[in-house]
Amino acid sequence: MNDFQTETPKLSADEKLNLLVKFGARISSELRLDKLLDIIAQQITLMLDVVRCTIYLKDSDRKELWSKIAQGHGLEHTEIRLPLDGNDVVPIVARTGQTINLPNAYEDERFSMAVDMVTDFRTQTMLAVPLKNNSGKVLGVFQVANKSDGTPFDKKDEGILLLLATLAASSIEIAKLYQDVHIAQLETIYRLAVTAEYRDQQDTRAHLKNISIISYLLALALGLSKKQAELIKNASPLHDIGKVALADNILLKPGRLTPEEFEIMKSHTIYGGRILEGAHSKVLQVAHKMSLYHHEKWNGTGYPKGLKAEEIPLEARIVTVADVFDALCVARVYKKAWKTDDAYLYILGESGKAFDPRIVAAFNRIYSSVRKLYAKNQASQADALSEEAAVQASRISSLRDE
Ligand code: C2E
Ligand code: SIN
Ligand code: SIN
Ligand code: FE
Repeated sequence: MNDFQTETPKLSADEKLNLLVKFGARISSELRLDKLLDIIAQQITLMLDVVRCTIYLKDSDRKELWSKIAQGHGLEHTEIRLPLDGNDVVPIVARTGQTINLPNAYEDERFSMAVDMVTDFRTQTMLAVPLKNNSGKVLGVFQVANKSDGTPFDKKDEGILLLLATLAASSIEIAKLYQDVHIAQLETIYRLAVTAEYRDQQDTRAHLKNISIISYLLALALGLSKKQAELIKNASPLHDIGKVALADNILLKPGRLTPEEFEIMKSHTIYGGRILEGAHSKVLQVAHKMSLYHHEKWNGTGYPKGLKAEEIPLEARIVTVADVFDALCVARVYKKAWKTDDAYLYILGESGKAFDPRIVAAFNRIYSSVRKLYAKNQASQADALSEEAAVQASRISSLRDE
């Protein structure tokens, strides 16, 4: 996380210079924003011999500065958010672009102890410098607190921290750009998936979320890399995208489909395949395989092609287990919801028939987590979690306003 606090080993002047020389190369190879901020905070902690380093980034849309809490108190992954127009150190530095150096934090009116209270830390000395890009625009603030030797920050420390901020600025800007593009892509995928499903699902969001989570857990349980598992997670909501092409009288028919109608229904796989054919991005390539092959069966009796066993792409073999499990657990216009454990037994019973036995075995391993997921109120669970985080973040912000 981008707030780093540690019992640092003391480094010699040579070792620090060495870190400084390698700093640029070290951070320019990291594109993941969280990871990058982590590394930067850690390096600064070592180079400046401080107990704590916190990196705040500007969120212009929300007119806030944010940082993540690194450790302790079960607050990991909680964001600290400060109003950009606030009257304490970090917002002032962000607005003015000027360095602030507090030799005695608690005696300065610009210091707010709100963050200390939340993180259970006592700031004695503090130094905060602006993080500016090449054109001088402020992107955020680097803040350090409490030198290990107890002395206040001097001009040399100010210079080093400013230098590090300058060196880090373009890496941070690039990583932010990547993150924005990635988030935009996920959001687009998700909205596209909702479009395809909202006609025949009572709760599209919960359905897509559950399939996504189960597919992710399955991928990890099968030993796939985290990266591959994430692709599968992000692509899985699109598996039924081909349903956009189906007419209401088939998709929404409140009873069994006739054989002719089911033939038409089957074409959602072909449509999905066409919609996603030739995609450039990895996630849409995975989604392409899923949408085309998620109704194939291990024993060769599925559709559209009747592929068998490993002829079916792994991604599709995974999402089909997640899809059928979730479809059984919820009510549809044509069927009632099954009990979670009955759906589980059905999945086990289809091992080697509809499903890849290895994936059913993986499902068996993750079932206790899946069961918990369904035990809670499916629809509101994801919302409740993020709401909790938002409440925590606003509590921290409002503490500061007092
Ligand atoms: P879906 O509702 O999302 O269901 C996905 C898959 O879950 C189904 O693929 C099937 O493998 C499994 N599944 C769902 N409900 C049941 C069930 O009650 N019993 C069993 N054994 N398996 C179930 P399938 O059969 O290829 O169907 C694909 C899609 O066709 C379904 O997606 C649904 O949209 C539609 N569909 C299938 N049968 C009917 C039906 O009788 N009436 C209507 N209106 N739609 C149907
Ligand atoms: C501030 O006072 O703006 C800095 C936040 C902190 O206490 O860490
Ligand atoms: C997403 O997975 O990209 C969005 C999730 C949601 O809004 O529920
Ligand atoms: Fe389907």
